[in-house]
Amino acid sequence: MEVQEVELVMSAVDPKQYPVTGYPEIGLVGRSNVGKSSLTNVLINRKSYARTSSQPGKTRTLNFYEVEHQLYFVDVPGYGYAKVSKKEREKFGVMIETYLTQRKQLRGVIQLIDGRHAPTEDDVSMYNWLQYYHIPTLVVATKIDKIKPGVRNREESLIRKTLGLNAATQLILFSAQTKLGKDAVWQWIEKQIGG
Ligand code: GTP
Ligand code: MG
Repeated sequence: MEVQEVELVMSAVDPKQYPVTGYPEIGLVGRSNVGKSSLTNVLINRKSYARTSSQPGKTRTLNFYEVEHQLYFVDVPGYGYAKVSKKEREKFGVMIETYLTQRKQLRGVIQLIDGRHAPTEDDVSMYNWLQYYHIPTLVVATKIDKIKPGVRNREESLIRKTLGLNAATQLILFSAQTKLGKDAVWQWIEKQIGG
């Protein structure tokens, strides 16, 4: 999809605030600072529409980006952000779980992993949680520009092994800097939304 039109239509904390147009939705999850907003910007061909930050935990609401009047990307606040209070973290948890388990329009989730390292325990729990709820999942290893091409295969195997991905689950190596993997991510999205 070549995106021309995009609009951040809602930053929601409560289901009552979710958009009511009924377009299919693709959620983006991953640890704080992993690159969710950066991936969103690459997919929608904008330099900095979704706010990116070197400071983790900037995104604290469910941000619905309406794309081409056809679908929404839903930027979900990063998990594993240590600096917020325990209470605030629990509140985030409820908001995220409510959205991911109850939203009828949700067609799939893109889980971002830092391509430079092995997935963390949080990454593994998130992945298992998504499988438990039978949510179609695409794993994207990002910041891959920081990894030398010669060792990318090894990193890919490490991610597959640590998350316990089965052969059917796609893993895409991605870079917001070089746009590596952009087309493959879009292909997966289009398959999920049936377009
Ligand atoms: P929160 O909203 O805080 O959860 O973070 P986020 O997951 O949206 O991450 P964001 O897109 O804001 O990126 C965090 C930092 O990583 C920024 O400094 C980005 O420039 C950098 N970054 C993101 N993707 C890439 C990438 O593919 N390559 C490189 N080199 N840096 C990246
Ligand atoms: Mg963000």
